[in-house]
Amino acid sequence: MADPLAAFRLDGQLAVITGGAGGLGRAIAEALAAAGAALVVTSRDGARAEAAAAALAAAHGVAATGVALDVTDPASVTAVFAGLTRVDVLVNNAGTTRRGPLAALTADDWDAVLDTNLRGAWLCTRAAAPALAGGGRVVNVASMFAAVGLPARSPYVASKGGLVALTRALAIELAPSGVRVNALCPGPFATAMADAAARADMLAAIPLGRWGQPAELGPAALFLASAASSYVTGAALTVDGGYTAR
Ligand SMILES: NC(=O)c1ccc[n+]([C@@H]2O[C@H](COP(=O)([O-])OP(=O)(O)OC[C@H]3O[C@@H](n4cnc5c(N)ncnc54)[C@H](OP(=O)(O)O)[C@@H]3O)[C@@H](O)[C@H]2O)c1
Repeated sequence: MADPLAAFRLDGQLAVITGGAGGLGRAIAEALAAAGAALVVTSRDGARAEAAAAALAAAHGVAATGVALDVTDPASVTAVFAGLTRVDVLVNNAGTTRRGPLAALTADDWDAVLDTNLRGAWLCTRAAAPALAGGGRVVNVASMFAAVGLPARSPYVASKGGLVALTRALAIELAPSGVRVNALCPGPFATAMADAAARADMLAAIPLGRWGQPAELGPAALFLASAASSYVTGAALTVDGGYTAR
């Protein structure tokens, strides 16, 4: 039997991580680089992307490029992927949120969240599909809130539920071209997106009794991004300290 650990290696492969300069995207980029992948890391801020790419290249001895990308802008998405003839892994990680009760949120809030979290992933996958054909993997960073509700975050919860549904649809549609599409559903991870009040509110509902550290998401992303998950498509992998098990 082949060495099962070898299936996690990404040597000679290229991974694109949207929003990969910080937070969970950066942690995912670290894991993929540690497995040997060359990286394209994006940020809306080109200088931030370049700095992250340089740090990742130095830490892991892989090639890494930083690129400016706004996933809400179709022209920006087209420009980035037009320059890539081969993409082995696309991680649709870019995300945003707006908080507030239903009556306080505006149509612009809804559009900002849906345009980034759902339309952005669709635009990037559409643009990358020709370069992914013949073995590529898409990892959509959704959320445990695709499975359970959360008050005062209605656009976010809707966007992440939509992203898991999109994952299933594209898994079926892209399977004949050899592309696997899966969702990664993080629970409470301590990043800029989770403020101190949210952290305190949620702690009692986490069976493992603590917030996750971003580095704890990387190995799960690597599983979905690599041949280790070769018979997995259209799935959602939850990494949430047991939050949704209640
Ligand atoms: N933290 C959690 O507990 C948690 C739980 C479940 C799911 N998630 C999901 O994990 C992903 C990463 O979130 P995070 O927690 O790491 O928060 P974060 O630090 O705020 O990261 C969000 C990332 O998205 C990028 N981004 C935002 N709008 C963008 C746009 N229009 N175009 C391109 N990139 C954009 C940002 O990049 P720049 O600012 O550099 O442009 C940033 O790197 C998100 O999809 C989030 O919904 C997080």
